[in-house]
Amino acid sequence: MKTLTKTHEGRVALVTGAAQGIGQAIAVALAERGAQVIATDLTRPHETVEKIGPTAHAFQLDVTQEEDWRSVSIKGRDVGEVDIVVNNAAYFPNRSIDELDLPTWRKTMATNLDAQFLSAKYFLPGMRRNKWGRFVGISSNMVGLAIPGMSHYIATKMGIIGFMRGLANDVASDGITANAVLPGLTNTLATAPQSEEQKRSTWEQQAIKRLGEPADVTGAILFLTSDDAAFITGQAIVVDGGQYRIG
Ligand SMILES: NC(=O)c1ccc[n+]([C@@H]2O[C@H](COP(=O)([O-])OP(=O)(O)OC[C@H]3O[C@@H](n4cnc5c(N)ncnc54)[C@H](O)[C@@H]3O)[C@@H](O)[C@H]2O)c1
Repeated sequence: MKTLTKTHEGRVALVTGAAQGIGQAIAVALAERGAQVIATDLTRPHETVEKIGPTAHAFQLDVTQEEDWRSVSIKGRDVGEVDIVVNNAAYFPNRSIDELDLPTWRKTMATNLDAQFLSAKYFLPGMRRNKWGRFVGISSNMVGLAIPGMSHYIATKMGIIGFMRGLANDVASDGITANAVLPGLTNTLATAPQSEEQKRSTWEQQAIKRLGEPADVTGAILFLTSDDAAFITGQAIVVDGGQYRIG
């Protein structure tokens, strides 16, 4: 049974790509721990807010658009200073290097990587004022796997780890941490098109032989965004049932 200790009481947490899948699970889990959640997505994530209840807020935020970050940082002030940012939204089309074009490359960079920088630009000042903050970037264990057609995606997911390592240095003196979480194959709409056979061939490589669920990913994020993880920064935590073992 999950603990319902209110470890995040008094915190305001913004989650991107929170309309479904892992992002929705993160938003719900943070709210269960007492955080006031700002759930964001390409369109306002109503379903997530309904699941959480009246304490949650839903905003439209296309993470590739600086204007949207600016606007949410202003609207969010009514909720309170944002203490926790979880960058979860991602773009991940499969394209072999021969098919990959520059617009697809750039959209992948903008969604998966620019967003990390923009979130720091708009929410770091408030965290500095409060002398407390948490950035978590959702990466992927795919950075260590031999999966074809994903060079652009893997580049961004390694980039997230690099950005968090660098950001950690610049913000540490103000009680702010920056870490990456690397899920393995997880049961979401994004992975639904894979056949059961394809999914099985992945999870059979894990120590824990089952497909991961969105709720399996949330524990690492709850920990990293809590006071318990105050001395953990610049790290990459793999949450994949034990598939990827080189850290
Ligand atoms: N599902 C997996 O197997 C898996 C494995 C490893 C890592 N991940 C990572 O976990 C995260 C969530 O994956 P998921 O499976 O829940 O994906 P998903 O496709 O189910 O959900 C992603 C959400 O991001 C939103 N989004 C996409 N582009 C956006 C943009 N520009 N601005 C704002 N929102 C945008 C989508 O609308 C959607 O609600 C991603 O970062 C993904 O790379 C997933």
